[in-house]
Amino acid sequence: MPVPIPCKLIALTGFMGSGKTTVGRLLAERLGWRFVDLDSRIVERAQASIVAIFRNHGEAAFREIEAEVLGRTLGEATEGERRTVIALGGGTLTRPENLARLRQAGAALVWLDCPLDDLIERCTGIADRPLFRDEASFRTLYEERRQIYQQADFRVESLEEPAQVVERILELLGPALVEA
Ligand code: S3P
Repeated sequence: MPVPIPCKLIALTGFMGSGKTTVGRLLAERLGWRFVDLDSRIVERAQASIVAIFRNHGEAAFREIEAEVLGRTLGEATEGERRTVIALGGGTLTRPENLARLRQAGAALVWLDCPLDDLIERCTGIADRPLFRDEASFRTLYEERRQIYQQADFRVESLEEPAQVVERILELLGPALVEA
């Protein structure tokens, strides 16, 4: 499905540590759009940290909340006509219905692609990612996830400074952001 013009919704996907939140916030600022970080919304909704949700209820329960919060966020953006940048969680697209909803809402899906070794460096020592258990399982998950991220409409390398990644996204999406 082609990205609608003008595009009013941008969703950032990519593995843990790829910069979705930082780049998303900057991108929204640059465009003057609203920014939503899906993980933060999940924490608000559950009144618990991501780590606590995984520990106390398991990943399946987390995915349920994630899907519900995504649905609500997309509803607000489309019904309220609010131009929005959403930073998805690294696993949001593991549920095909989440991808379908994003497409239905007309989101331009941008994959922030970052080399694995840099992701490991960024995530090591940070305790808020329950799926970063050890390097070996992180590598395996990364390989599985790449196919999922490849479904995005655009791929942007996310190794540079966030401001440069934002410029790159704006270049790629440029024509779709212009009002007819
Ligand atoms: C997850 C990534 C995390 C968070 C949760 C699960 C994943 O988000 O949603 O820990 O499955 O990759 P970030 O990608 O923002 O770290």
